[in-house]
Amino acid sequence: MTVTLRNATAADIFRLQDIERKAAEIFRDTGLINVDAMSVMPLHDHIACIETGISIVAETDARIAGFIIGELHDDVAYLRELDVDPAFHQRGIGALLVQAFVTRAREDGAKATYLSTFRDPPWNAPFYRKQGFVDVDRADYLPWMSELEAAQAAFLNLSTRVFMRRD
Ligand SMILES: CC(C)(COP(=O)(O)OP(=O)(O)OC[C@H]1O[C@@H](n2cnc3c(N)ncnc32)[C@H](O)[C@@H]1OP(=O)(O)O)[C@@H](O)C(=O)NCCC(=O)NCCS
Repeated sequence: MTVTLRNATAADIFRLQDIERKAAEIFRDTGLINVDAMSVMPLHDHIACIETGISIVAETDARIAGFIIGELHDDVAYLRELDVDPAFHQRGIGALLVQAFVTRAREDGAKATYLSTFRDPPWNAPFYRKQGFVDVDRADYLPWMSELEAAQAAFLNLSTRVFMRRD
């Protein structure tokens, strides 16, 4: 399987939203997300990341199999969303996208990449640890991380969450 990476364009957005919805099925029996009620990343946020942040897609046979997307906060990057179509899970595409994101963030001047994820599912915090991320202590939160957590509290159980960082 040959995988190629490229920057996302506006024409990709509906496929990216489709992949996010399909990928969320992996959470269906975890009790962590209400998969039927969840909303996907809105169009305008995709456009903002394409224009001023980082949005990279992975293609196999000219079809998008996964994507990674985020934004820059001052001198660090925030990895907001990573999704791979379940038809392509566990073939290394997620790891490839994370490496591409971290590399791009560095090229764009970020001194670290942060993300927020669930602690326990093997495809969340344990997956990111394999990609070199470490847990962030609450004492080391940056101001925007506390704001993000406060917003997440409306729809997520914060005890299931962890912020992670890769320098
Ligand atoms: C997270 C996600 C993108 C991983 O994509 P992927 O292409 O399947 O991941 P990879 O094949 O690159 O896996 C990298 C490593 O993680 C492990 N891993 C990935 N998914 C796993 C799973 N479901 N169970 C156990 N291990 C898993 C792989 O075995 C591999 O380990 P190795 O390096 O020891 O071989 C995918 O599971 C997904 O789309 N999940 C739903 C959305 C999500 O949770 N996004 C991230 C939250 S911020």
